[in-house]
Amino acid sequence: MRFGWLSDIHLEFLDRDAIDAFIVKLRRHDVDAWLVTGDIGVASSLTDHLRRFDASLAVPVCFTLGNHDHYGGSVVDVEREMRACVATASRLVWLAGSEPTVMGGKVAIVGDDTWADARYGNARATPVLLNDFFRIADLKGLDRAALLKTLAHLADAAVARLEARLRAAAGMCPEVVVLTHVPPFREAAWHEGRPSDDDWVPWFACRALGEAILRVAHGHPEVSFLVLCGHTHGEGEYRPAANVTVLTAAAEYGAPEVQRILEIGS
Ligand SMILES: [Fe+2]
Repeated sequence: MRFGWLSDIHLEFLDRDAIDAFIVKLRRHDVDAWLVTGDIGVASSLTDHLRRFDASLAVPVCFTLGNHDHYGGSVVDVEREMRACVATASRLVWLAGSEPTVMGGKVAIVGDDTWADARYGNARATPVLLNDFFRIADLKGLDRAALLKTLAHLADAAVARLEARLRAAAGMCPEVVVLTHVPPFREAAWHEGRPSDDDWVPWFACRALGEAILRVAHGHPEVSFLVLCGHTHGEGEYRPAANVTVLTAAAEYGAPEVQRILEIGS
């Protein structure tokens, strides 16, 4: 089967005409589904972008959200909006609110709206600050200790949901595709050609997710796990186990591209 992968397309930097042109470009690809690993836009326009995908693309659009998708909003509000959005859509599959999506009987797709858990690197003292800490209601105005606690809490909630679905998916299909915005290993947090350093990696990777993926993968050596992620905007590949491959997406603000066409389960 053929899957088109999109990540960090950041449509908030495009006007309506440019978004239309991007959708026309997507329609030229003969794929069975689109897989979208977050940072589609910002909270105020996210539903609008997703509805345009739903109306214009002829195949399922399986997506997870990223940190930017919450800019100008809160996690609870965005989740409520996503539930309403997918309830009236015909092709949108919000993976954080779905059981594994099986395609062609061989490929199971799972995912969640993951967060960096601040468990790698220099989280307590790094001078690096993300706009997340000023633009997402849940993270705004927190001191460092509260910020780390909140990030770990958000990350762990997503990982708990995702690990249960991963186990189910591994029992269903020989190929499992995992969609996550945040890379699950520090070695997969590629930025400008190399894994992120100790000051950036607390905000660029989710250690708890990596551990969960390896737990499930070790229990299912007969299953291949392909993990698609973004967030760091640096392209790279990392293989933490014989049956686990992690691909990280390249991205540039204002210039969305089809990340890759993937042949899986054929
Ligand atoms: Fe991101």
